[in-house]
Amino acid sequence: VVDEGKGIEELRGRAEIQEAANILKRGGLVAFPTETVYGLGAIATSADAVSSIYKAKGRPSDNPLIIHLGAVEQVGDWVESIPPIAAELARRFWPGPLTMVFRHRGNLASNVTAGLPTVAVRVPDHPLAQALLLETGIPVAAPSANRSGRPSPTEALHVWDDLRGKVALILDGGATGYGLESTVVDVTGEVPVLLRPGGVTLEQLQAAVGTVEVDPGLVRDDESPRSPGMKYRHYAPEGDVWLVREPWAEVKEALQREISRQQGQGHRVGLLVTEEHSDLVTADVIVRCGWRRDPLSVARGLYHALREFDEQQVDVIFAETFPEEGIYRSVMNRLAKAAAGKTLDLRK
Ligand code: TXA
Ligand code: MG
Repeated sequence: VVDEGKGIEELRGRAEIQEAANILKRGGLVAFPTETVYGLGAIATSADAVSSIYKAKGRPSDNPLIIHLGAVEQVGDWVESIPPIAAELARRFWPGPLTMVFRHRGNLASNVTAGLPTVAVRVPDHPLAQALLLETGIPVAAPSANRSGRPSPTEALHVWDDLRGKVALILDGGATGYGLESTVVDVTGEVPVLLRPGGVTLEQLQAAVGTVEVDPGLVRDDESPRSPGMKYRHYAPEGDVWLVREPWAEVKEALQREISRQQGQGHRVGLLVTEEHSDLVTADVIVRCGWRRDPLSVARGLYHALREFDEQQVDVIFAETFPEEGIYRSVMNRLAKAAAGKTLDLRK
């Protein structure tokens, strides 16, 4: 456990950071906190080190990784060029929860990018991540540190649950701040394209650089997404998740009947709700996930809540939904994936 109440320079000298950097430099795996979720890191210049990430996670090898750098000035060493719009996004949002996809220079291990001509790059805004990355001095490829298909880890304990025995060291920096992964934006074309909504909102991107396209694969089922990772069922607890689109106050009787019907079939039923909605209906397990009037609190609590249903061995989960704007757009993207698109129709 590393206490982060120190400057980056001081943290770099700490024994835990030194040991973690040495493990990375020797080609090993280290899990570390970022401001979004915990990452499972390996140096991005060694194909062997990178392949052990895919192996530990059970991740399909056609899904490329994000490289993490300790300072914005290092980005130019690994990408072909930084277009003006990317420079503006970097100025506004780095270090921070934004990942940009650039054309690379060919000096990274090819399995980092799954053979693509582009690479996803991020400069995280977390003191432990920055200290580790600066101390390592080599880009660190890191997906979220969960087993493939499980909700991303927002606490060191989640990493331990998913990957113990498969990772040499876990740096524990407490719970992460955003609780959702970074926003992925492709900056290789004229107009930036949003590939994955995350910690930086579409509205913030638009305010910074004007027009931003949204990958059609994000909003339509019949298009395949351009961010390879978005096509997998993801972020999912083991129970069956259903989205409840109607305001709960208006459908609470119908929802309560559906819960009883499921319980009658022998299912353990869970509810994923905000504090404001937590008293409207009853079920076997009620997991509260932040305050509806505070979208960041919902984002921060989402993955922990989804994991809680697994702990409690819930079979069916009914989830509250949110308006598709700001950080709630990212929350809804993850919820829709957890539910594999299934919506409960209570008005039939
Ligand atoms: O917040 C985050 O981004 C966390 C922390 C650890 O930094 N990392 C993370 O990594 O979420 P991962 O591997 O779970 O997600 C990476 C996403 C995937 O959707 C992947 O398909 C996409 O980025 N991606 C990576 N390289 C890409 C590329 N060259 N072109 C398009 N999408 C890419
Ligand atoms: Mg992931």
